[in-house]
Amino acid sequence: MLDRRNTLLLSVPLVLVLVVSGFAFVVELDDTFMETRGADDVWLIKFYAPWCTFCKQLDPVWHQIGSELRSLGSLINVGKSDTTKSTGLAKDFRVMNYPAILMLKKDVKYNYPGPRTKEGIMDFANRVAGPLVRSLSSVQLFQHAMQRHNVMIVYVGATSPLKGNFSSVANELIVHTFFFSASRDVLPKTVSLPSLPAVVVFKDGTYFTFNEELDGDLKSWINRERFPNYFKIDSYTLYSMGESGKLVLVVLVEEKGQCEESLRFKGLVEKVAADYREIYSRHFHFGFMEGSDYINGYVMGQVTLPFIIALNLSNDGYFLPLGAMETERHLLDFLNGILDGTIQGQGGNCAYQRMSRLIYDIRVTLTLVFIQAPLLGCLLVSIPLTMVAMFCYLCCKHRPTQSDDDDSVAMFAPSLPRRKQTNKKSD
Ligand SMILES: *[C@@H]1O[C@H](CO)[C@@H](O)[C@H](O)[C@H]1NC(C)=O
Ligand SMILES: *[C@@H]1O[C@H](CO)[C@@H](O)[C@H](O)[C@H]1NC(C)=O
Repeated sequence: MLDRRNTLLLSVPLVLVLVVSGFAFVVELDDTFMETRGADDVWLIKFYAPWCTFCKQLDPVWHQIGSELRSLGSLINVGKSDTTKSTGLAKDFRVMNYPAILMLKKDVKYNYPGPRTKEGIMDFANRVAGPLVRSLSSVQLFQHAMQRHNVMIVYVGATSPLKGNFSSVANELIVHTFFFSASRDVLPKTVSLPSLPAVVVFKDGTYFTFNEELDGDLKSWINRERFPNYFKIDSYTLYSMGESGKLVLVVLVEEKGQCEESLRFKGLVEKVAADYREIYSRHFHFGFMEGSDYINGYVMGQVTLPFIIALNLSNDGYFLPLGAMETERHLLDFLNGILDGTIQGQGGNCAYQRMSRLIYDIRVTLTLVFIQAPLLGCLLVSIPLTMVAMFCYLCCKHRPTQSDDDDSVAMFAPSLPRRKQTNKKSD
């Protein structure tokens, strides 16, 4: 009797501790959220589904983010929402895949486009929660920012219509990069600007000024210029580079222990990117990727490392060098061949290519599952078959009715960034 009461008494504080220390950092949100939240609150929200394993993998990270932001005294609230229960909220945020990570600031929603790591998500949250355009009011602040960011987009000058355009671009692209403003006297003396106001990007040890006549609209220019000339690319960045309209020349190398050949390839591409920037940077981004998984899916085959490939992300196409890649001359010939059309593009996004890609992806996934867990593999094969059979049965029973809403939540979207959905552009 006494024992039982003791355990009961002990377990009450234990539960309290759990609630206070653990779950309170992350608030479970439901469909009432949009009405009950404070108008000025900033929220970082993970949308998940109970059956999604990528979501489960993110749980500990999410908890760490919640507790870290809390202990830093951040104003950012961290929440999560079960999309199978709170369907209204998921629809409101146009959740298309799991886990989806979004930020809500005032009434604007920002979609997190990066890798699912604590660092990546925290950087994003702090960037979006802060001012849209950060003012660098002194030489020291400017220098400090220059050291921290390898690409810096800066508005220089007083308030003007251009500043209005700059802020509205910032509002869209803050999910990717920072936006700054500064007065002329804060910039290094060596920087010469044709006129004020100006938008300048500082990168690769130099700077470029936006010119509306030559560069087109500000947003596309920033989308093209917000990447360093040569850098390490991950699949998320690659996906977002598609918007720039440039081709991407990548060297694929091993994730660990890069061999001499890999280092040579990287050096070659980095050198050509820098030495011939004037000629090629209008058409190409340059960089390297560690690991070949993403590109294997892209070319539907197994590539051997190191590997050089140029990607046209606007049509899922790619170009491969015709011969050896030993010298600078070989690489220049490759680049010129792509631009003048003598090197044939491969891949693409026609119906046939898309179907082969889908089959390839399914085959790779199933092979992996069968190797790691044969039983699960059998289940995975039999479940869709059963579902198809049931679906056919139901279809025969009821004529389907027209859905009245076309932006409903997609339940089976992949959680990694995929190649551009081409039907988006077909209109
Ligand atoms: C601002 O953007 C609009 C189009 O979006 C453009 O017509 C206008 O010239 C821009 N203004 C400045 C000062 O850049
Ligand atoms: C890349 O794809 C786009 C869209 O299909 C196309 O217009 C462009 O010509 C392609 N670029 C090259 C170099 O093939």
